[in-house]
Amino acid sequence: MSEIVERCDVLIKGGQVIDGTGQPARSADVAITGDRIVALGALNVERAEHVIEATGQTVTPGFIDVHTHDDRLVMSNPEVTPKLSQGVTTVVVGNCGISLSPWTGGHTPPPLDLVFSPEPDEYQFPTFAAYADALGKHPSSINVVPLIGHSTLRCGTMDDVDRPATEAEITVMKERLRESLEAGAAGFSTGLFYAPNKPAPAAEVAAIASELPAFQGIYATHMRNEGEGLFDSLDETFDTARRAGCAVVISHHKCQNEKVWGRSVESLARIEAASAEQSVGFDVYPYIAGSTVLLEEMIQPSKRIIVSWSAAVPEAGGRDLSDISAEWGCSDAEAMARLQPGGGIYFSMDEADVDRILSHPMGMIGSDGIPHDVHPHPRLWGTFPRVLGHYARERGLFSLEEGVRKMTGLSAQTFNLKDRGLLQVGAFADVVVFDANTIIDTATFETPKSTAAGIDTVLVNGAIAWQQGAGTGQRSGRLLSNPGVT
Ligand code: ZN
Ligand code: CU
Repeated sequence: MSEIVERCDVLIKGGQVIDGTGQPARSADVAITGDRIVALGALNVERAEHVIEATGQTVTPGFIDVHTHDDRLVMSNPEVTPKLSQGVTTVVVGNCGISLSPWTGGHTPPPLDLVFSPEPDEYQFPTFAAYADALGKHPSSINVVPLIGHSTLRCGTMDDVDRPATEAEITVMKERLRESLEAGAAGFSTGLFYAPNKPAPAAEVAAIASELPAFQGIYATHMRNEGEGLFDSLDETFDTARRAGCAVVISHHKCQNEKVWGRSVESLARIEAASAEQSVGFDVYPYIAGSTVLLEEMIQPSKRIIVSWSAAVPEAGGRDLSDISAEWGCSDAEAMARLQPGGGIYFSMDEADVDRILSHPMGMIGSDGIPHDVHPHPRLWGTFPRVLGHYARERGLFSLEEGVRKMTGLSAQTFNLKDRGLLQVGAFADVVVFDANTIIDTATFETPKSTAAGIDTVLVNGAIAWQQGAGTGQRSGRLLSNPGVT
């Protein structure tokens, strides 16, 4: 028996629907009118303005990239091609303690330069409301879930970030966070590993994060240490979130140092144990290399380093640091110092840990892509198709349905994204149509800017934003506010 639908705007016909809950795929048509899914199942549609033939294809909710640094990209490249081309329809921005707003001026030390423009007065927003307003006037192709970064708050508030904040400075940062949350920001992030954030004790973080519960805001953290100090950092993270009374997401969980390789067995057990007592989640990207600014302390744990950009020596982008230091006849540390400011790709993880963390049922997918690098880590363009094509299909680490859940249903639930992340009647029509037999990343460490294979169509809030290998020019993305504001 098929359901009769008089008319709809878009009909996705004959595909295998994976709904984002982890339930098995099933044959179904999807009818969309306006920005919502209006019918799903065996449909008899009398009139559809637009039909997408999906026979032989898989239809899923749009992918949610829960860990990005796309704060400026969504404005400077509103098509957001690296993400839209993968099937990503929503990005969480402002991670690792770095957000573009609220920015009250001053110097932008690394790692703030990962998102801030090198041009002095470009893309600067004194308040989060100003950022939201700019994005509202010039929307991007995808939805944006904004976090407010602790390093941004510190650099904008304190004359000297090499120390803990004073009570008065904490009061100002709390006010700026609260004001941002009132204007719709979804949460708060730290990058306690990084110089501008590191001097903040847990008490400072907990005091600021205590603004979150009133808005159901999320606390996301790039922890102080992901190597030998991993377990202390996990304890600190759980404790801080308990003191603040908020939900916490551990960013890009990893065992980043040979000395802790294999210990994801324990770290995952600790995360599971904590999740019985409080709201905890984590994200992960599907690669054994990480990427950030050029940092001397990353030389020791890395087996190989690729320079992703260098302001001092632009032609170094894409080259191995060890080749450069050999050519210059100096140490890696000396070469790195000469390349500053810049970015690097660091091979510091073990595949077995990455497999284990990716496979864990609590693991959400976040690319951590760094969009303005000259020679970016391939995760910027490849993360989501790689999880589905390489890890699910080729390696069989988990089912396709489970892979989809990790990038849709689980992510929307964790970040309180109402009516997103699931294909069901009444949900927003963020949808991807792809070929489950061919979906794969093509971005590599050598050639990182390369669109994935197998993505057919991407819809954002009901509008077709990507089709047949190209953006359509639709700018239907929205800013998704926390549930505490209406
Ligand atoms: Zn980070
Ligand atoms: Cu990050």
